Amino acid sequence: MPRMVETLTFPDGFLFGASISAYQTEGGNTNTDWWWWEHIQATPCSEPSGDACDFYHRYQDDVAMLAGFGLNTFRFGVEWARIEPAEGEFSRAELAHYRRVLDACHEHGVVPIVTFHHFTVPKWLHDMGGIAAERFPALFERYCDRTAQALGARIAYACTINEPQGLGSSGWILGINPPGHHDDRDGAQRAVDNLLEAHRRGAAAIRGRAGVPTGVTLALPDLQYEDGAQPGTSSLELESHVNDWFFELARNDDFIGVQTYTRFRFGPEGSRSPGSDWSDATRELSESDHTTQMGYEYYPQALGGAIRRAHRSCPGVPILVTENGIATADDERRTAYINTAMREVLACLAEGIDVRSYLYWSLLDNFEWALGYAPTFGLVAVDRETFARHPRASATWLGQVARAGALSGAAQSV
Ligand code: BGC
Repeated sequence: MPRMVETLTFPDGFLFGASISAYQTEGGNTNTDWWWWEHIQATPCSEPSGDACDFYHRYQDDVAMLAGFGLNTFRFGVEWARIEPAEGEFSRAELAHYRRVLDACHEHGVVPIVTFHHFTVPKWLHDMGGIAAERFPALFERYCDRTAQALGARIAYACTINEPQGLGSSGWILGINPPGHHDDRDGAQRAVDNLLEAHRRGAAAIRGRAGVPTGVTLALPDLQYEDGAQPGTSSLELESHVNDWFFELARNDDFIGVQTYTRFRFGPEGSRSPGSDWSDATRELSESDHTTQMGYEYYPQALGGAIRRAHRSCPGVPILVTENGIATADDERRTAYINTAMREVLACLAEGIDVRSYLYWSLLDNFEWALGYAPTFGLVAVDRETFARHPRASATWLGQVARAGALSGAAQSV
């Protein structure tokens, strides 16, 4: 039965914006595990990140551009390897840089949401074992403490770790991300245990120093089971199970970040969705009527399922949608995707779920990890030679929704 959306208006104070991460946009993050990974001979990366979007130097214009669209919130990351370039050495200049990025947000009336860890670690930490290293939680805590001390209440919301559920399996079992281990189950388990501990300690440090609402951002594809499906067997589900441990911690957090791009369906024979096997380098990545450039099923309704799962798992904890988006060559398709996804947000609000933001991924076409620059998620295209920004119609459209605080048009079934 299609559900009817009762209202098209978002609550006062709702946060409308876009997200990026440090590594995928700043450029020149040479002191990280990912830079190393892009340059080893056996790299699975299609191209190196290089200068990325040169956001490191262009943040002023990018924040002004985002505000000019009408958006009121910006999620960006700080790069640990810049802030702590060698173990225990903190860079005042880099912390001052990130203070300036935050100041640019405030000058434009934009609410800044800051991610402390988005997939990358400093190279010196990678050399001692990365996320699986015994000292990782303590080192993360110290980095959070020093960074929060320097950036303070300029931050509006802090995200400790982005999508921790996949870091253990992708880096230690599947070998598709650094450090590139295969079938190292002990390593994966250590990574997961460390990430849980790091979130706990990092969040406490950030709250203690900066006093700002802090949480974790989780990847929550909408997992759907058909009759006869045997839940719990695929690597995708095992990853997703890690989220349950993070949900436990998130019950004590100030918010929970929800991130979703598609659904994955399971039948008696296992997964039946395109793009569900990330370890398969030959998987179909081309865009079609049913799939996006990532090879995922086009299914913007997934956001509703993800929000409801977070709500069920952490009742009463405010939800921020910190990432939702589509990689597509067709910008009208992007607008249609966002429109449907935002109607899901409205449906969840109508059910009484406390959803406080919708942040589109991504503001810019950026470095999509091993897939390089081919997938285009951006509200804004970036010229790879000149770094010139070319806003798409979807940016203007989302900005209008933000200014109106409402989706226009008659209520429709979703
Ligand atoms: C990650 C981003 C990534 C996006 C699109 C999310 O899982 O946080 O870094 O670019 O998905 O694939």
